[in-house]
Parts: sequence; structure tokens; C-alpha cells
Amino acid sequence: MVAQKICITLLLLASASTVFADTPDTLLSGYAADASRAAPGFQPSAQRGQALFTKEWGVSQKMPNCAACHSKNLKAEGKHVITDKRIAPLAPEANPERFTSSTKVEKWFKRNCTEVVGRECTAAEKADFIQFVSHGG
Ligand code: HEC
Repeated sequence: MVAQKICITLLLLASASTVFADTPDTLLSGYAADASRAAPGFQPSAQRGQALFTKEWGVSQKMPNCAACHSKNLKAEGKHVITDKRIAPLAPEANPERFTSSTKVEKWFKRNCTEVVGRECTAAEKADFIQFVSHGG
């Protein structure tokens, strides 16, 4: 009986996670919730997200900022500064696949922030960035 209940619960959980896949907004609220634990009252800001995106960080000469690869126009294709490979637009409006997988988003935030900013981005910076890219770009 107990085993049966556990099975049913697991099935429900599995189907719930398929139905509630990641979206820009679920990822945004997750990062915003993390950020407000450190800074109560935190509100994501597209303006701060834009500053993060265009700021010349002075860490890497080849990759001074995020826009170096992603293009200043979020709805346009970018081009990788080293490999010359095309990068699909970052804005979900132009590319519905953006910000639909927390695994992918975490992987690229980690890699790109480390290269460009010289450290990992904070939850607050990630929330600001998604706010900018999906609601304010
Ligand atoms: C050296 C080139 C380069 C730079 C500079 C760069 N990126 Fe990226 N970024 C990529 C590539 C390549 C991908 C993965 C390919 C793709 O998703 O189209 C990617 C993907 C991403 C994604 C995944 C989005 C999704 O859901 O698909 C995020 C978020 C991201 N970058 C944020 C940033 C931020 C923030 C910065 C600046 C701190 C930055 N990137 C700078 C090359 C770059």
C-alpha cells in the first residue's frame, strides 16, 4: 500500500515536471528568490541586466563583454569571437528555445561569466540579466 502510494506520488511528480518545464519567467523567479535571501526586497532590474551585458569588464581582451559574442541587438544572431560560429539570438522573443532549460542556462552563465567577468555571476546578476533579455531588451 505504502509502496503504491509512493509510486503514484513519483508518477505525479514526473508528470508535473514535464508540464512545468523551465521558462524565462520560472528561471527568473528562481534567481530572484535566491537573490532576495541575500538582499531582502530584491527586485530584478532590466537596466542593471543591460549594464552587465554591455560593461567592458577588462578581464579578457578578446571577450570584453557579453555583447562581443551575443551582439548588442538581442534579437539578432551573434558570432563567437574566437570560433566565428553563429550564435542564435538571446532574446526569447526571437528564439523560443532560450531560457527553457536550467541546466543549459547554468552551464553557460558559469562559463561566460567566468570568462568575461572573471568570476561566476551572482543570483542577482542572473535575475537582472534574464529580466533584461526577456522583458527589457
Ligand atoms: C566567447 C563568446 C561568448 C561570450 C563573450 C558570452 N557568451 Fe553567452 N553563450 C555563448 C555560446 C557559444 C553559448 C551557447 C550557444 C547558444 O546557446 O547559442 C552561450 C549561451 C549563453 C546563455 C544560455 C541561454 C539559453 O538559455 O540558451 C546565457 C544565459 C549566456 N550565454 C549568457 C552570457 C552572459 C551573461 C555573458 C557575459 C557575462 C555571455 N553570455 C558572454 C558565447 C558567449
